[in-house]
Amino acid sequence: MNQSMTSELLHTRDAIGLPEDPEATVDAWSSREDSYPIIVTRSLSDAVDRIADMIGDASVALLSDERVYELHGRRLLDELGAAGLRPTVFTIATGEANKSLDEAVRAWNWLADTPLGRRDVIVNVGGGVVIDLGGWVASGYMRGMQYLNVPTTLVGQVDAGIGGKLAVNHPRAKNLIGGFHQPLGVVSHVGFLGTLEPRAINAGMAETIKKALIASPDYWAFIEHNADRLLGRDEHAMCHLVGAAGAIKAELIARDPYEADSRRTLGFGHALAHPVETVTGFGPILHGEAVAFGMGIEARMALARGLLDRATFDRILALLSRFALPTRASELQAHVDGRDLLAATEKVRLARGGFLRWVLPLDIGETVIADDVTDRELRAALNDAGITF
Ligand SMILES: NC(=O)c1ccc[n+]([C@@H]2O[C@H](COP(=O)([O-])OP(=O)(O)OC[C@H]3O[C@@H](n4cnc5c(N)ncnc54)[C@H](O)[C@@H]3O)[C@@H](O)[C@H]2O)c1
Ligand SMILES: [Zn+2]
Repeated sequence: MNQSMTSELLHTRDAIGLPEDPEATVDAWSSREDSYPIIVTRSLSDAVDRIADMIGDASVALLSDERVYELHGRRLLDELGAAGLRPTVFTIATGEANKSLDEAVRAWNWLADTPLGRRDVIVNVGGGVVIDLGGWVASGYMRGMQYLNVPTTLVGQVDAGIGGKLAVNHPRAKNLIGGFHQPLGVVSHVGFLGTLEPRAINAGMAETIKKALIASPDYWAFIEHNADRLLGRDEHAMCHLVGAAGAIKAELIARDPYEADSRRTLGFGHALAHPVETVTGFGPILHGEAVAFGMGIEARMALARGLLDRATFDRILALLSRFALPTRASELQAHVDGRDLLAATEKVRLARGGFLRWVLPLDIGETVIADDVTDRELRAALNDAGITF
């Protein structure tokens, strides 16, 4: 194809030939290679510059939750204004219960009343809820608007902001309605983490411990050695924590960006975390807490199978406890009924074609994925963690 552009005209001359056989199978390309920057910074003005660079002269909508908007969104809006951007603002109520199709529809209705189009950008300012919802809204509007993540929780900065996996919850199951749509970029300002409650920081630590355990003994050692500094929110340590998480997640997802292969170690802890969140009604137990509990259960399964030695098992549970993460039923913030949990887990199994894939740790940085875990093994591990039936 030949194309030439003048100031007003795009002139195209093409000469696509006809197929010899009209019934011959045609291969249509369905994937493209793309990358986006993950930026970690300790300076708000640096964050604003990076955001403004990525947006260029597109129009902007800032999507946030009410709490984050009050704490950081308003200030960010002012700073973006000073950088020449004029975002319009859409907020949702805070909390996991708002990661819903109803809120997505509300956002689409709102967008339809704005002049924003495909080339414009939604800037998601918030935690995983805002990021998952905002990305899903962007992906569904005009066949895919651009969006940029500005995560303000540790879960958002070390995990949810990266990877383009988007979803809203359905009463039947967590993340049931969603898809993939990659962001324009991720800008994590670690200063935002300063206003998080300790419980939210710890929930984020669960996703970092997950990455360390499945893929990086170095990251594990960093977390172990710097636990005090991390608990004290030392900004240098937080910056290292977030930067390394981005690098590790980027490396892992590059191997399979659209989850064509369901045997992914990044799901460690999640086979049980999602049912725990579902049976407790999305909210009382934070996602990261549910993941920690799920990792503990998979570690128990591995121990029972003789795949994991007792010392490493103890080390895993000790690091989770160091960040006050639940590994026993009594440490969860809501009662979890064993029978409800098994029923919800069974639903996920059926929805996945009859297989649940459990990630069993063998050592720090080493796992196996097992789809042959029996009901009896699951019950035993749950029992061991204090879940009753
Ligand atoms: N897409 C992915 O790959 C991925 C990965 C991990 C988690 N997730 C999803 O992310 C969600 C959990 O994310 P989350 O833990 O960030 O939850 P969240 O977005 O609900 O944020 C937790 C709470 O912190 C508040 N908050 C946010 N930033 C704050 C700040 N800087 N200071 C004070 N308060 C602040 C929020 O208003 C909210 O009340 C779950 O729905 C989970 O499924 C998605
Ligand atoms: Zn998660």
